[in-house]
Amino acid sequence: MVKRADLNTDRYYKRAKAEGYRARSAFKLLQIVNKFELIKEGDIVVDLGAAPGGWSQVAKEIVGAKGVVISVDLQQIEQIEGVESLKSDITNEMETIKTIKETLLMKISKGTDLVDVVLSDASPKLSGNRDYDHFRSFELAQSVLNVASALLRNNGCFVAKIFQGVCYKEFYKDVQKKFGYTKAYSPAATRKRSAEVYVIGKGFLGNQYYYG
Ligand SMILES: C[S@@+](CC[C@H](N)C(=O)[O-])C[C@H]1O[C@@H](n2cnc3c(N)ncnc32)[C@H](O)[C@@H]1O
Repeated sequence: MVKRADLNTDRYYKRAKAEGYRARSAFKLLQIVNKFELIKEGDIVVDLGAAPGGWSQVAKEIVGAKGVVISVDLQQIEQIEGVESLKSDITNEMETIKTIKETLLMKISKGTDLVDVVLSDASPKLSGNRDYDHFRSFELAQSVLNVASALLRNNGCFVAKIFQGVCYKEFYKDVQKKFGYTKAYSPAATRKRSAEVYVIGKGFLGNQYYYG
């Protein structure tokens, strides 16, 4: 839980306000992208667990007018210019995949229902119990990986958040099986006491996930 007093002294919070980002977490994605070059101009990007929209703002800045950003969350995301927002529960994997693919084919019409990059900063509501929060974040990250596997084109890129704990290695290995390159990373903007870590996948090995 972040206290208001902490926010007032947090330099990323202040920078986010000054630079027009909706969340300080925008700087986490900027740091991840600077290091791993996950997104480029013209890309089709899906942001899972996107509210209030800081990551989607950063993604849209990078992909530019020729690119596409689709943001998905349980909550309604306030409109971001040039970004398509969808309300969906990621753990309802089939429904989420279907909604995103329909949006790609019917509204965006780039001639494909596959995407270049799947991002996820999705997080369950924190209970304060580290083990419980870890398990819930592990389950969410597994759903993110399943949805990403149905959406990514070959050689596509991936990043997902997970809270560290006993299942962390299992998730890391699952990402490893699907990507040519895998790395765990904690950007400087992650708070020191946070258990969060981002698992990066580059070079998606192929669409192995089928849905009806
Ligand atoms: C830390 S916030 C994301 C912040 C975002 N990256 C930004 O920069 O604004 C985590 C988000 O995950 C979303 N979330 C959690 N569980 C979800 C689920 N099952 N389906 C969709 N979104 C979910 C929450 O609603 C919340 O908005």
